[in-house]
Amino acid sequence: MQAITKILSGYAAKAFESCGYDSTLGTVTSSDRLDLCQFQCNGAFAGAKQYRKAPMMIAEEVCRALAMEEIFEKAEAAAPGFINLTLKDSALMALAKELDADSESGIPQPENPETLLIDYGGPNVAKPLHIGHLRSAIIGEALKRLARICGHKVTGDIHLGDWGLQIGLVICGLKEQMPDERCFSEDFDPEKDSVPVLNCDLLSQVYPEASKKSKEDDVFREQAQAATFDLQNRRPGYIALWKEIMRVSIADLKKSYQRLNVDFDLWYGESDADAYVDELMRILTQKELLRESEGALVVDVEKESDKAPMPPIIIKKSDHSNLYATTDLATLIQRKKDFSPDRIWYVVDTRQGLHFEQVFRCAEKAGITDGIRPEFLGFGTMNGADGKPYKTREGGVMRLSDLLDLAENAALEKLESSAYIKSLSGEEKKQIAQKVSVAAVKFGDLQNHRAKDYIFDLDKFLAFEGKTGTYILYTITRINSILKKAGVSPEENPEIKGIYSATERELLLNLLLTGERFVKALEERAPNYICDNAFTLASLFSGFYHDNRVVDEADPEKKESWLALLLLTKKMLLVHLDVLGIEAVENM
Ligand code: ARG
Repeated sequence: MQAITKILSGYAAKAFESCGYDSTLGTVTSSDRLDLCQFQCNGAFAGAKQYRKAPMMIAEEVCRALAMEEIFEKAEAAAPGFINLTLKDSALMALAKELDADSESGIPQPENPETLLIDYGGPNVAKPLHIGHLRSAIIGEALKRLARICGHKVTGDIHLGDWGLQIGLVICGLKEQMPDERCFSEDFDPEKDSVPVLNCDLLSQVYPEASKKSKEDDVFREQAQAATFDLQNRRPGYIALWKEIMRVSIADLKKSYQRLNVDFDLWYGESDADAYVDELMRILTQKELLRESEGALVVDVEKESDKAPMPPIIIKKSDHSNLYATTDLATLIQRKKDFSPDRIWYVVDTRQGLHFEQVFRCAEKAGITDGIRPEFLGFGTMNGADGKPYKTREGGVMRLSDLLDLAENAALEKLESSAYIKSLSGEEKKQIAQKVSVAAVKFGDLQNHRAKDYIFDLDKFLAFEGKTGTYILYTITRINSILKKAGVSPEENPEIKGIYSATERELLLNLLLTGERFVKALEERAPNYICDNAFTLASLFSGFYHDNRVVDEADPEKKESWLALLLLTKKMLLVHLDVLGIEAVENM
């Protein structure tokens, strides 16, 4: 389905042209002053300069032409030259029918779909998944779903941190606990020897201990660095142990992400880029970009226009080991080869902005990103009530699974007041509480612009009123209950045959504008627009619900129209939730 403003721009372009003006002046936008009009066009102002005429004269001429069109209720010129447009209800209803039948939910599809790769999640293997990675998963997943529903070809890659010092620390930590295991000896034979079977609890105990020890004990730290170096040079025992660490970690990560409705197409990691480091070094050498600095190899990336200092990017440390930047550059080579994406989006903590700027500049200089537009989509911090990064009550880093448990329990407590919930079994209650809590946490995050910090406030996120995920889910359950009482099913396909109030008209108009708002949200990489729109629709529905008794309505045509409007509202709200990666509940 075409964007409504585009359809109307077509009419306006034709009108400008028929009056002897340039058709490109006919750009129509939606109006936020519904008391004046539904749509507006400001082309008369640009036309005034071009044709040396008063804008009001042009607007009046164009309005006369527009008024001849069947679809407009009003086409009025307003001083000093605005063109105000309002559609006939019959036109709104015809569009509603089109929207209802549209398999793309009214979202205008691109002429040239792009291939997009989204790098999000980014957890570090062997470390428990903590809330620092929550935002990346939630926002990245929403952006992926948004780009997909907007018609692009999208691949999501988790980009595991699986090749760094944390693995060396875990190897050394494990070695202290089980020094006799064969995997620690130089002559480990993968054909004959085996590695110990690990589990999550063990890993989540070993890593923090090893990390703490490395800060206090220089010898241990050097051992961990050496182990990391040996791993990266593919020492057989360490590779075998690393594979076991990966097996356990990935299984655990999948469980946590599943709870959040987050899923990745690719489970690549930093380790997969390793095979491309030699090629990277070749390219950088060939292009004469490398320079030695204190034994390390660096590339200068500053520009004259820089206002802040831009340090050179370090590609190899003096001990020849690779760095985070090396991996990201090598990964770019890999991604170009495997997917030739038009764009790559990195959904990563804002504080890594400088790193990515350096990487992108270096990649551009080296020609690695020719044909690719990499973009850094930074996100802010999730804070506690004190305005500082969210912590456990003891002041430690909160594990993601603990946070989700906390939210689930709070949701359960809140829902207990509902008579419906009281009538359910424990398991059924738990299932609903789980969905409500995920909706609360995800919507609570996504409704903020991603670049902003926000305060994690479960009480607020779980509120039944206000801009919350809970409110959106609750709205859908209200619609469900009306549909159930009225005994209507979507197969009956009721139609909107009349519009009986301003609230309904506004709701319908907003449903019709939803598709183009999705496109706008994608253009701005801003899933919070999707939250805003869901809230607008839900609030308008609430107004309608407050004013009307659908089930008891005696006029059959009115009742059918209302039920059709409800079905369409529900359908569109579900599309929003799907993009946000939130599941609805039937009742609560
Ligand atoms: N693992 C990294 C971290 O925890 C995030 C990875 C982001 N993606 C990337 N291509 N560097 O900070």
